[in-house]
Amino acid sequence: MKVAAVQFCPKFKDVETNFNFLFQKSKEIDSELICFPELALSGYFFLSKEELRPFAIDFDSTIIKEIQNVSTSTGKIILFGFPEREGDRFYNSCAILFPDNKYSTKYRKTHLFYKERFIFEVGNTGFFVVEYPEKDIRLGIMICYDWRFPEAARTLALKGADLITCPSNLVTKIWHNVMPARAIENKVFLLVANRIGSETNGGETLHFNGKSGIWDYNGNLMVTASDESENTLIAEIIPQETRNKNIDQFNNIFLDRRPKYYII
Ligand code: ACM
Repeated sequence: MKVAAVQFCPKFKDVETNFNFLFQKSKEIDSELICFPELALSGYFFLSKEELRPFAIDFDSTIIKEIQNVSTSTGKIILFGFPEREGDRFYNSCAILFPDNKYSTKYRKTHLFYKERFIFEVGNTGFFVVEYPEKDIRLGIMICYDWRFPEAARTLALKGADLITCPSNLVTKIWHNVMPARAIENKVFLLVANRIGSETNGGETLHFNGKSGIWDYNGNLMVTASDESENTLIAEIIPQETRNKNIDQFNNIFLDRRPKYYII
């Protein structure tokens, strides 16, 4: 199965331009799964709910439906970050769109980073895996700062994920040290679609550092991008290879767990 991570620079507060980019790239890229960064539709650095409000959308909005139509007509799984509005609340969400739209859903970021707490509610979807029979893939999702919590990837893996996708707007560089460990300890493929560029608001600038990557379940970097240029990474994965958690004739990394000793 071919999977793609799209690294680009979303235009802050320009939903139309970003939507056109997502729409075109989703049609063009020759891959069965395409993942765009966190908040790809709007840009990142909002400082208040009032500032975000005009750019936030409901999950059943036309914009989501249009990308859903691309997924259905091309047979591709498409993920992208967007600011979700539900009534008066906002979530930092990822749309997860499957060709058969009865599987399509959203994930709401569980762990909020930095000033996100002034805008978004903490996510309430929890970590879940979507099993998509047509492609025999079990897909898990976490967003950006969720990476800091090994429980996120662990939960997804214990729930059966073959591939963990992580749409991101990463501002540090240390995450590159950790992603291979998440892949190894869970024996899963891991895909990070990070953004590039910078945004300034309220006199503060955030730099987003690219270097998107796809790791195999032994923690090997299959493909990566530079820290500043637009890029589409594509890797070929065999999701079924992650399901047997044996690592030799005696050890199975899930059956060998001793959860009663992990309680504090
Ligand atoms: C992040 O969670 N955007 C670093």
